[in-house]
Amino acid sequence: MEKREELYAGKAKSVYYTDDADKLILHYRNDTSAFDGAKIEQLDRKGEINNKFSAFIMEKLEAAGVPTHHEGLLSAEESLVKKLDMFPIECVVRNIATGSITKRLGVEDGISLNPPTFEFFLKNDELHDPMINEYHIRSFGWADDEAIEKMKELTFKVNDVLTKLFDDVGLLLVDYKLEFGRFQGQIYLGDEFTPDGCRLWDVETRKKLDKDRFRQGLGGVVEAYEEVAHRIGVDLT
Ligand code: ATP
Ligand code: TYD
Repeated sequence: MEKREELYAGKAKSVYYTDDADKLILHYRNDTSAFDGAKIEQLDRKGEINNKFSAFIMEKLEAAGVPTHHEGLLSAEESLVKKLDMFPIECVVRNIATGSITKRLGVEDGISLNPPTFEFFLKNDELHDPMINEYHIRSFGWADDEAIEKMKELTFKVNDVLTKLFDDVGLLLVDYKLEFGRFQGQIYLGDEFTPDGCRLWDVETRKKLDKDRFRQGLGGVVEAYEEVAHRIGVDLT
């Protein structure tokens, strides 16, 4: 697989064309950002941990019947993926209320949500990723009915698989964000699943083991990601 020119440099990953028009390379960088890029730091080893972490999760999801863009690891910080036509939408599931929702709705931090709740956000940094609903998605043509239903179905299926995977090692999957895209007419899970885009708490101590450590300046960010990776069995060698 030959790496070609850069297609896009995001806040945490760079995306490259390859000699196969259907495939892209995702390069996970050490850059860590929060508050729409207002806080940015380089965290040693984060790129490698997230690359291997996401590959591990994508393989588990694929095995459980969730179509994912993941093709394979190429190097410590790079993965090969299907080139998706991404929907400009983020799908968020929350099993526990924390973060922005507690302020927005005035609800208590840390309460369990049964059933879990689901939200769509528009991928638009300038507008600070505003929350949108299905009518917005249809009216503005960001996705059609079939795609909306599929994204919801797959996002909840991911919840079934991953709440169990993390629960088995004493971790609570509090909430997470997924992105989807289209490839040859089918909807696939794209982007990443890492502690950069979800919240994970130790079930006993409720210690935060995700990007909130960075957002809140708690320190030990990479160590927390590594701890989660070790607990679920990601090979970091
Ligand atoms: P954010 O952090 O808000 O997700 P970003 O664009 O800065 O935004 P990065 O992870 O740095 O995020 O960049 C990766 C980009 O690659 C994202 O825009 C994502 O939607 C896109 N992407 C991920 N997987 C694929 C794929 N399989 N095909 C095409 N684009 C993809
Ligand atoms: P949210 O509560 O909106 O985050 P915050 O409290 O920082 O505003 O997000 C819920 C979960 O989804 C959380 O694990 C972070 C993740 N997420 C992202 O990674 N990127 C996003 O753009 C959004 C909207 C959420």
